Amino acid sequence: MEVKNKYIVTKHHIQDAPKEANFELKTETITLSIAPGSDHIIVKNLYISIDPYQLNRMKLSSPSQATISFAAPINPGQAIDGAVIGKVVASGNAKFQKDDLVLGVFTWAHYSLVKEGNILKKLESSEFPLPYYLGVLGFNGLSAYAGFFELCKPQKGEKVFVSAACGAVGNLVGQYAKLLGCYVVGCAGTHKKVELLKQELGFDEAFNYNQEKDLNSALKRYFPDGIDVYFDNVGGEMLEAAVGNMKIFGRVAVCGVIAEYTSGGRKAAPNMMDIVYKRINIRGFLAADFLNVFEDFYAKTSDYLRTGKLKIIEDISAGVESIPSAFVGLFKGDNIGKKVISLVEE
Ligand SMILES: NC(=O)c1ccc[n+]([C@@H]2O[C@H](COP(=O)([O-])OP(=O)(O)OC[C@H]3O[C@@H](n4cnc5c(N)ncnc54)[C@H](OP(=O)(O)O)[C@@H]3O)[C@@H](O)[C@H]2O)c1
Repeated sequence: MEVKNKYIVTKHHIQDAPKEANFELKTETITLSIAPGSDHIIVKNLYISIDPYQLNRMKLSSPSQATISFAAPINPGQAIDGAVIGKVVASGNAKFQKDDLVLGVFTWAHYSLVKEGNILKKLESSEFPLPYYLGVLGFNGLSAYAGFFELCKPQKGEKVFVSAACGAVGNLVGQYAKLLGCYVVGCAGTHKKVELLKQELGFDEAFNYNQEKDLNSALKRYFPDGIDVYFDNVGGEMLEAAVGNMKIFGRVAVCGVIAEYTSGGRKAAPNMMDIVYKRINIRGFLAADFLNVFEDFYAKTSDYLRTGKLKIIEDISAGVESIPSAFVGLFKGDNIGKKVISLVEE
């Protein structure tokens, strides 16, 4: 059977904050069957993960691009790949059968033609809603868990600060920290997000960084005795202010620096004297470095979900056509929680 396959490409390299006009919806005709002898698999995509790191792949060049395979450049006009959950519609590979649910690196499209190596795993039992496997039980969850527990080695009662706290990674860091018994403060870009952090997710405090004239004093207000752990999702001025407010032997996990992904974003220049004399440990990481703790992460997080200890915030848009605005929205703070595109037909 032949079908029209819609997919999203970039029109050109993107250096500044992304705009919807940077993207194009293309259509091709594909056959939903596999040629004899081919080991390809055709997947009908169901849920597409929308993630900020993709912007660094869309640039002409970025220090990230040569570091790890999933950060490889995306060429204009080329189908964009990323984390997707889909259902196998045809398979020339004996390991995958029609109707298998699979999680892998597929394209921002209705259908993807993939090889075995693109499939990260089969979803044998879907105990939880499928989008969870892209967010809380996927790389966002692992980033939060490994960055917080493995890098920061937090102790009960410590003071924890999280930026982009209402985002996919940040909200989970704050919730893990509360479950451990820490004092947790998050920052986010709107009043609505601040209320959600305090009222729904159990953060002790939260503030809207857009309404603060001086981030340094804002952090002093919430951490008069200093910060033990800063989980950084944004970089820039917030990282500078956090470093200025760290306690002696404080730990900073740098998960991402979204404020620095766009060309106008100020690059952080933290006070190095603070880092030396307060013996602050600042470490960047990628979730992919921590596959060794995946099982532990997955078991504990699933249990928190079953017992209702972890709340889920997701932001789901429908249709391939909505991908550009969903992606652009990450850089404007439009999303509340994990941004996912649903291609499931009602
Ligand atoms: N190291 C890893 O393996 C790994 C894995 C996943 C994600 N990450 C990184 O972790 C960070 C969060 O990712 P995510 O997927 O959870 O995204 P997200 O937080 O769900 O979405 C991005 C959020 O960042 C905030 N933001 C955007 N531009 C900003 C700016 N200029 N200054 C301050 N905040 C800004 C916005 O919220 P506000 O309303 O608060 O502004 C926006 O909602 C990103 O830096 C990402 O690249 C790293």
